[in-house]
Amino acid sequence: MVHDSRCVDAARHRLRPARWLPPTRAPPATGGLLLRPWEEADAPAFLSAYQDDEIRRWHTRRPTTDLQVREWFDTYRQDWKHEKGGHWAITRDGVEVLGRIALRGLNFDDGTADVAYWVLPAARGAGVASRGLSALTAWALDEVGFHRLELDHSTHNHASCRVATKSGYLLEGTKRSAAVHDDGRHDMHLHARIRGD
Ligand SMILES: CC(C)(COP(=O)(O)OP(=O)(O)OC[C@H]1O[C@@H](n2cnc3c(N)ncnc32)[C@H](O)[C@@H]1OP(=O)(O)O)[C@@H](O)C(=O)NCCC(=O)NCCS
Repeated sequence: MVHDSRCVDAARHRLRPARWLPPTRAPPATGGLLLRPWEEADAPAFLSAYQDDEIRRWHTRRPTTDLQVREWFDTYRQDWKHEKGGHWAITRDGVEVLGRIALRGLNFDDGTADVAYWVLPAARGAGVASRGLSALTAWALDEVGFHRLELDHSTHNHASCRVATKSGYLLEGTKRSAAVHDDGRHDMHLHARIRGD
């Protein structure tokens, strides 16, 4: 594995993250899972996710057309280019899309970022979210050099709570009335994983 010298530097000092990595890099995952950038051909799978009731329940910002998905993918590419975020398809061997994972809200001064994910219904219950999140987390903390990654979810979303805990994100508290969902405001659990946890 080739290490960017800035990453080595960040790891040595354990203070601040390196700047963003080249666009070809994506975090490695286990068991045939590969995290890779979104491709135009993924648009139908991405759009289909937002027809699922569970994904609709927890994700209020939704694309409604193929064209809109492609615009989102373009925003994702811009986010990467301008060091604002990374958005990956969780795939089986780089081909079949199983889910989505993202690193957002990058703050290179404080060394913080937050994560988000969903998994397509047919791929659930097989460790896709937890393995994808563990891979992304190891990459962001150990290679890019972030210090703290946050994850929040509605207190009603028990599946996401389990994914967070299983991936080493400790529950730090409850943000009251913090996010609007279709059925109103929800309290949100705040989880975080810190380098060295
Ligand atoms: C939450 C979600 C990402 C989980 O994906 P997944 O790939 O099925 O999760 P995993 O297989 O990695 O499961 C990880 C753990 O969560 C548990 N889990 C998964 N679904 C669960 C559910 N519905 N209820 C309770 N626990 C659940 C698993 O049992 C496992 O724990 P274990 O190893 O102790 O048994 C998926 O159900 C989903 O996309 N839901 C809708 C969108 C969503 O909630 N996104 C997150 C918003 S914050």
